[in-house]
Amino acid sequence: MLDMQGIIKRFGGLTAVDNVSLKVRQGEIVGLIGPNGAGKTTFFNILTGIYKPDEGTIAFEGREIQGLRPYRIARCGIARTFQNIRLLKEETVLDNVKVGMFHKTGAGLWASILGLRSARDEERMVTEESLRMLEIVGLAGCEHEQAGNLSYGNQRRVEIARALVSRPKLLLLDEPTAGMNAEEVQEMMGLIRLIREQGTTVILIEHNVSMVVGLCDRIAVLDHGVKIADDVPEAVVSHPAVIEAYIGKEEGEEVDSGAAH
Ligand SMILES: Nc1ncnc2c1ncn2[C@@H]1O[C@H](COP(=O)(O)OP(=O)(O)OP(=O)(O)O)[C@@H](O)[C@H]1O
Ligand SMILES: [Mg+2]
Repeated sequence: MLDMQGIIKRFGGLTAVDNVSLKVRQGEIVGLIGPNGAGKTTFFNILTGIYKPDEGTIAFEGREIQGLRPYRIARCGIARTFQNIRLLKEETVLDNVKVGMFHKTGAGLWASILGLRSARDEERMVTEESLRMLEIVGLAGCEHEQAGNLSYGNQRRVEIARALVSRPKLLLLDEPTAGMNAEEVQEMMGLIRLIREQGTTVILIEHNVSMVVGLCDRIAVLDHGVKIADDVPEAVVSHPAVIEAYIGKEEGEEVDSGAAH
């Protein structure tokens, strides 16, 4: 489904992503882990078109998408959530989810202003679909609450609903359990499994190693922008380079701190 080859991204003198290749098959849950600053979020930003790679190619379902604008990549069926939650905190939960459909709807501005039938039908469809997604992520009944009033964990669920409402083929989650307690982490694992069962392929950035090991079919590890491992979970956690990357660089810090910033 996804074939990224030789991706390089430099920020001045820093090579944040250094010749990384990654293939993802349809239906997989792939983990992307690595110490702070390893280049994980930058990798997502390249895949979603926020940054253009300096080098490398990205084929999604056989079509080259590197360097396309973010909305065009979204239209190909790739959606994401953000490490720093990005919600319209003053707006309702429902309106936040509906935003995820904007790149798909076609009735247009004038139709909405004139209240044309096509725009009204579309609005109803978007609302129904958004409510359905809120139910899937476990937030049924919360649609009229102000997003900023929800707990941190529930705000992350709203972000996932917003990503899912566009019915993506590939969902990218950037630290979905950051700041969650053990029970919420378990619930999030269940939700990600459900998303996959419904046919969406997932790439997951996580600091919580036990979660990625329990959930992922395969784990890729970045360290200083370089991919140092890519294998089944059991092989990755016992890989000497992976152990060194974590112990060497996070001395005094917990590997699974889930630190959000
Ligand atoms: N827009 C930018 N301009 C300059 N440097 C950047 C930019 N974005 C990221 N970086 C740098 O690139 C490196 C990789 O950052 P990135 O956010 O991708 O890491 P990460 O693996 O997601 O880390 P974390 O686990 O802390 O979220 C870091 O050194 C970071 O400071
Ligand atoms: Mg990050």
